[in-house]
Amino acid sequence: MIKIVTVVGARPQFIKAAAISRAIRQKFQGRINEVILHTGQHYDAAMSQVFFEELELPKEHYNLKAGSGSHAVQTASMLVGIEEILLQEQPDCLLLYGDTNSTLAGAVAAAKLHIPVVHVEGGVRSYNKKFPEEVNRLICDHLSTLIFVPTLSGLEGLWKEGFQRDNQPPYNADNPKVYHCGDIMYDNSLLFASVAEKKSTIIQQLGLTNTAFALVTMHRPNNVDDERILTNLLLTFDRLSREEKLTLVIPVHPRTLKIMERINPQVGQALRENAFLKIIPALSFIDMTALEMKAEIVFTDSGGVQKEAYYFKKPCVILMDETAWVELAKSGSAILTGADDARIRDAYHTLMNKRPSLQFPAIFGDGKAAEFICEKLVEHFGR
Ligand code: UD1
Repeated sequence: MIKIVTVVGARPQFIKAAAISRAIRQKFQGRINEVILHTGQHYDAAMSQVFFEELELPKEHYNLKAGSGSHAVQTASMLVGIEEILLQEQPDCLLLYGDTNSTLAGAVAAAKLHIPVVHVEGGVRSYNKKFPEEVNRLICDHLSTLIFVPTLSGLEGLWKEGFQRDNQPPYNADNPKVYHCGDIMYDNSLLFASVAEKKSTIIQQLGLTNTAFALVTMHRPNNVDDERILTNLLLTFDRLSREEKLTLVIPVHPRTLKIMERINPQVGQALRENAFLKIIPALSFIDMTALEMKAEIVFTDSGGVQKEAYYFKKPCVILMDETAWVELAKSGSAILTGADDARIRDAYHTLMNKRPSLQFPAIFGDGKAAEFICEKLVEHFGR
């Protein structure tokens, strides 16, 4: 039996970790013992608890309650807490997901204790180190022993960074093994699409049963931390919805909500009076899935939501200047616009016109990434 410690902390990690925990429960009982460590990076119930419940992620064994703070403060407090738990648990490896500050803290803590790091969603790059996520991914990949890469572009990126294709065991942080395995988030979306159809009532709650609508999410610091940029984005959506008579559902991340409270009261009033705008609190995974499946088009700066739009064959306006998911833009089903009013509106019209002919080839694997990862963990650490 191998013992793994899994670090989760932010919303997208609860979703990714749920796929592995489910695979362990269903196929690797008695072979993998998983200890879940929640850093507490996301702490609001709507950002954390609800994901554990809906996705049946086992309750965490540890919670560091790291909470918010500057990057250094947040990461440092996690680093201290993770080190202590790793010393106590002495796992065979530390399992990390994606690119958040929780991922970074886990990678550094484990590497210094010579505990092998396993990075799920490795190789992903936006090639812009101004994004904290890019820094986190780079460091985590370069400290890992096993790297599981969701896409071919991620694989190519790692070869360029000097990772070896045909290296032989024993694998370790100086001789890491890279696997191409498909996207673990796709596993969840496939499974939860039917759950959302049966259980979610969000469409009825929002009165959208017979109404076409678009879905909008924004939480990246470069889009929401400056209230002028956020205000302009909201005004773009205000205008677009009125001109097109298109309902926009906008679930709001707590980060965005805090800044929205500071925007000009007149703008706030105008937004509230626009019946086409449905600005609502952050949603659970099942409700988000239900909206993604039924939306005409998605506008987002979230990496996860971009991909989910693609899984459900929806056009997507990416509110960023670059994406780590380059395949999406290449497929023609997604267009990068940054926070620019004209580019957002152009992209909307282009995508809606092309909608019937958009192609969504299978670039995220077969929905069995979690099982593949578990097999490799047992193969590698079970020796
Ligand atoms: C983090 C990740 C990002 C991921 C996102 C998903 C980093 C650097 N970024 O961004 O990659 O896409 O999660 O949601 O790790 N807040 C609350 N309640 C919460 C959580 C956060 O109010 O439950 C507030 C915090 O006070 C803070 C802001 O939201 O002001 C940002 O939280 P933080 O964890 O730093 O990063 P995210 O923007 O959520």
